Amino acid sequence: TRFRESYRPQYHFTPPEKWMNDPNGLLFYNDTYHLFYQYYPDDIVWGPMHWGHATSKDLVAWKHQPVALYPDKLGYIFSGSAVMDLENTSGLGTKENPPMVAIFTYHLMEGETAGRNDFQTQGIAYSLDEGQTWTKYKDNPVIANPTGIRDFRDPKVMWHAPSQQWILTLVAGDHAKFYSSKNLTSWEYLSDFGKDIGAHGGVWECPDLFELTVEGSDEKRWVLLISINPGAPNGGSGTQYFVGDFDGTTFTTAQKDIKWIDYGTDNYAGVTYNGLPDSERTFIGWMSNWNYARDTPTENWRSAMTLSRKLTLHKNNDYYLKNYPVAAINDYSYGSNTYKKITNNYSLTSANFNEMRIDFEIEGALHDFELKFSNIPNDQLSLGYDMEKDVFYVDRRRSGKVNFEPRFAKKVHEAPAITDGNDKTTFSIFMDASSIEFFVDQGATAITDQIFPNEPYTVMTFTSKKHELKNVKVSKVKRIWE
Ligand code: FRU
Repeated sequence: TRFRESYRPQYHFTPPEKWMNDPNGLLFYNDTYHLFYQYYPDDIVWGPMHWGHATSKDLVAWKHQPVALYPDKLGYIFSGSAVMDLENTSGLGTKENPPMVAIFTYHLMEGETAGRNDFQTQGIAYSLDEGQTWTKYKDNPVIANPTGIRDFRDPKVMWHAPSQQWILTLVAGDHAKFYSSKNLTSWEYLSDFGKDIGAHGGVWECPDLFELTVEGSDEKRWVLLISINPGAPNGGSGTQYFVGDFDGTTFTTAQKDIKWIDYGTDNYAGVTYNGLPDSERTFIGWMSNWNYARDTPTENWRSAMTLSRKLTLHKNNDYYLKNYPVAAINDYSYGSNTYKKITNNYSLTSANFNEMRIDFEIEGALHDFELKFSNIPNDQLSLGYDMEKDVFYVDRRRSGKVNFEPRFAKKVHEAPAITDGNDKTTFSIFMDASSIEFFVDQGATAITDQIFPNEPYTVMTFTSKKHELKNVKVSKVKRIWE
């Protein structure tokens, strides 16, 4: 019966209390998934950043752990990553007991307040007990800010096997920088990427670099994720990606267009796990947006993570990433009701659509359709397909509490309709108290949005002049907290 406050998600990760933003230090080791996160344990708004910590055996149910990293005289602990230094290249542990190493940004508030622009540097810390207790490295920072780059942060480190070295990607305002190291403590600058490519409506944040095999082929490509704030397609914060090559020194791409992971406004700063095979490239994002993150109507705690999602790379004419909840979520579905078909103007009722998962299919070329969730106070949340514009959409403009910040309900969130192009299109919707995650064809299109209905939605109405919904499955989802 813990965590039953109104709007508290029941099968998504949330901190026990207080403010959370970006996921940090995602790492799989010894059968355990580690999730660290930007955390301010003293208030439900952003403040001096710590790293919170949680662990999971299956990427769905989480156990809260003690706070991992506290601010110190070098600054607040901003976003970053973690690796297992199995060969003890850093010398911070032993081969028998290798160190878990966190690489993060120090943000020196005094420096910023004093009007300097070298207040962000990169530091490391290590743990010899699987993340329970941490020691800061004695010679921090390991990457200084020599030339005064105001935005110089969010290091993501990975082991690059072909060149037998660690590669670190960080962001510097309008581009990414790559560094290499043999030991995690001394770093050499390699190259820049991105000044004149991609979206630049705001500052680049939270990069991630990894290799993926194109599904159904042997072709391998490198993917670079870059979060950007503001400048996302539906306003505020969002995550773009580039598909290209990385040779151990530089990242190159032939990509011309701008690609986004998600077209909702609430999937930001997402990155992937270290320590997993490439075929299990697993992502989690912060389910909020800097436009209104501080204003959402929750008490005690603020914001949740997306469901853990598997990333896969596909190629039709062009490359595209899919992101779709990991299979483990299927073990949490129960009490399903199935309907062979649902026809125009048909309504289903339920005690609570806000702790549910809904799967269905549509046959043939897509025409207009809409699903509308509503309740007795007549809040309305709709989603569907608009044929004229060729977009999928989520419309939360009348979904409940929407007035806490003007940009929250400013517009319908539209996504260019990316599908597999098959005869049949598949859809999944995950609703959990204060969020909706809408996926088409296993994440070819994704729309993630927060919602704050005045009461749970109890009616779902389907409308379409052309379509029927086929093989509809409405399932409850088990709550993850004891
Ligand atoms: C992204 C971000 C990061 C930074 C952190 C601070 O949301 O702005 O760039 O490290 O949040 O909390």
